[in-house]
Amino acid sequence: MSESQFAPLKNDRFLHALQRQPVDRTPMWMMRQAGRYLPEYRATREKAGSFMDLCRNTELACEVTMQPLERFPLDAAILFSDILTIPDAMGLGLYFVQGEGPKFKKPVRTSADIAALEVVNTARDLSYVTDAVTAIRHELNGRVPLIGFSGSPWTLATYMIEGASSRDFARAKEMLYNRPEDMHQLLSVLADSVIDYLNAQIRAGAQVVQIFDTWGGALGHSAYREFSLQYMERIVQGLIKEHDGRPVPVILFTKGGGQWLEAMADTGATALGLDWTTDIAQARARVGDKVALQGNLDPAILLASPERIRQEVATCLAAFGQGSGHIFNLGHGVTPQVDPAHAGAMFEAVAELSPQYHP
Ligand code: CP3
Repeated sequence: MSESQFAPLKNDRFLHALQRQPVDRTPMWMMRQAGRYLPEYRATREKAGSFMDLCRNTELACEVTMQPLERFPLDAAILFSDILTIPDAMGLGLYFVQGEGPKFKKPVRTSADIAALEVVNTARDLSYVTDAVTAIRHELNGRVPLIGFSGSPWTLATYMIEGASSRDFARAKEMLYNRPEDMHQLLSVLADSVIDYLNAQIRAGAQVVQIFDTWGGALGHSAYREFSLQYMERIVQGLIKEHDGRPVPVILFTKGGGQWLEAMADTGATALGLDWTTDIAQARARVGDKVALQGNLDPAILLASPERIRQEVATCLAAFGQGSGHIFNLGHGVTPQVDPAHAGAMFEAVAELSPQYHP
């Protein structure tokens, strides 16, 4: 897909901030911005059938991607899909149980299960995702850039091995410690799959990509490097660096990864996502001008009053301080019980309070 098919970008604040170039105010978006906290999302979801039906329906996936942009002055859109599309395409049979989250019919447990896995072929098995990317780019008509995404190999592996969400990752960690060669084989197939998947999203029109390492923070200090970071680095190295003459920024988000920021910055990523346990001022001092930083309010702040939300926004903007290189976001996804008006109050505060940091 050549960039010339799409309308020129009207709002490039997000892309500039990712490259730490001057902006007029801090750009903002929110993880899980299209989702169940929005009544219009719940209405479209009802129309679609199951969650995966919604992901596979190009027109409706496009519709829900646009919904938060109609409400809030956001500086980026994120593809509506899920990280578990890759294991689904590998034949594990993804389904969702109300109130219990994602499940797999055929989890991966034995060495033979792992040996049977093949690297996904996005063009053959996941064209519904790349079709959605292209359709969303047309629908955006240059309004804001589009973010594509994937799970990290380790985070995908936890769901594939456990067969569901987990509190302690007992099976995955047992494999990691007792059968590290099996774990490496699984992570390797996943890393190559993620490279194919993200490069296909970039060719289809994604202007930025984010890797969600939601469960990297559950790993021990040395295990994080060996079993999560190493594979994310392989992905960063394997991604298209430029598409039609434009750089393709990569955002790395390890939830609970605050103590590993220097190592994460060494992967070659453009920006790091921070969760709310990290002080963004200290993070900036540690990574210097190697990467931009994205984050990092506690998502639970959106349950508090608009006045309290505004204070937290002010604190976060002040902590990052003067200059470009900050992308405002939550430290993890917005939760379903949030009142959209509270998200609105947060974005309004960013728009009003951030220009002073960009003189
Ligand atoms: O950010 C966005 O708005 C884009 C869409 C997006 C979704 N999932 C939509 C979704 C993104 C980026 C994801 C990523 C994702 N999916 C992650 C990593 C990020 C994170 O939040 O940690 C993970 C771990 C998943 C796996 C997953 N998919 C879970 C745990 C759930 C929730 C299940 C539940 O019942 O609570 C999903 C389903 C899902 N993905 C929903 C949405 C809007 C809700 C599905 C519904 O409509 O019922």
